Amino acid sequence: MKIERDFHMMKGDDEFSYAKNSRIQRRAILATRPIVKKAIRDMCLDLHPQSMVIADLGCSFGANTLLFVSEVITTICENRNNTIKESAMEVQFFLNDLPGNDFNHIFQSLEQFEQLTKNHCACRGLQPPPHYVAALAGSFYTRLFPCNSVHFFHSSMSVMWLSQVPENLNGSMNEGNVHIGATTPPIVAKLYQNQFEKDFSQFLQMRCREIVPRGRMVLTVVGRKSQDVFHAGKTTTIFELLSQGLRTLVTEGRVEKEKLDSFNIPIYCPSVDELKQLVWQNELLDISDIQLFEMDGNPMDDLELVEGAATAQAIGQSMSATLRAAMESLITSHFGDSILDELFAVFARNFTNYIESDVEKSGITVITLYLQAKH
Ligand SMILES: C[S@@+](CC[C@H](N)C(=O)[O-])C[C@H]1O[C@@H](n2cnc3c(N)ncnc32)[C@H](O)[C@@H]1O
Repeated sequence: MKIERDFHMMKGDDEFSYAKNSRIQRRAILATRPIVKKAIRDMCLDLHPQSMVIADLGCSFGANTLLFVSEVITTICENRNNTIKESAMEVQFFLNDLPGNDFNHIFQSLEQFEQLTKNHCACRGLQPPPHYVAALAGSFYTRLFPCNSVHFFHSSMSVMWLSQVPENLNGSMNEGNVHIGATTPPIVAKLYQNQFEKDFSQFLQMRCREIVPRGRMVLTVVGRKSQDVFHAGKTTTIFELLSQGLRTLVTEGRVEKEKLDSFNIPIYCPSVDELKQLVWQNELLDISDIQLFEMDGNPMDDLELVEGAATAQAIGQSMSATLRAAMESLITSHFGDSILDELFAVFARNFTNYIESDVEKSGITVITLYLQAKH
């Protein structure tokens, strides 16, 4: 699969769509909201842009995409006449993702979103600034904007996706695993780490050309607390359980062993130190803040969970749908679509057993970097 051309979250609104299965990602946007709001206020106070350009990289589609747009508009409204003096300020949003993203879904919900935003602001005696929303298809590992043109870059739960399966990770080097698992050889873990270093450095270089002097960036990624690359908390568990599901299908003769051995998911969960190191190497950015959150990794809403309404089985199914919404295009392109239902049914069972087991459960680690362009 060529990631840049073929990869996408599951489109539309059906039961396995990203729009219906992205509550964990939504929780990350909510948890990091104070940092995003602060970065926008700081930038407005510092630069006083009349016409502000804001880009969300790896925006996907559904409620999460517009939640970010709404947060920015509300922040600007709340701070008008206070930190943000320009009553005539206009905002241009660019929503970026790969070409396979369901951009139509965003634009079909935009009219309703605008009405809700207007009402929400009006209730509080506020008026939203004139704003314009455009889509921008392309990989964030390439140049996306003209030089010195973007005031604020945002990206949530996207930059841990690599540009490709790690270079030189071939054949059955990672036998029986789809990611960095307990039996992964250290050399394979190192290849993952190298690919992330290369990709993240490239990402920062591109953005540094595009951002205005003293522009701001807030990047949130799935990361890890531990220095040890083999321990990324719940993310490690999820990929172990997916590998286990595929191994079951190999035993049943539904999947060829070589197919499993050659399948590797292009994601890397960095540590705080790794991120800091790569930003320092770039030399063009200051770290204003860096925070690590240990998020509740439950894929169901609090409402669905009240008073034990959700059983371990329901949580297992919900986690399976969340993983499927993100991974289906990758899995189909490698194994074909005939195994999807069975694989994710096995995963749901495995995840349910994991919840019911006595093993200590970890949360999903998320790291947010608040950066400022030096010049
Ligand atoms: C887990 S989703 C997060 C989406 C959204 N920001 C949210 O919080 O719900 C990750 C998104 O990153 C996008 N993505 C991955 N690699 C990308 C790349 N190289 N360039 C642009 N988008 C990319 C995927 O297509 C996907 O929509």
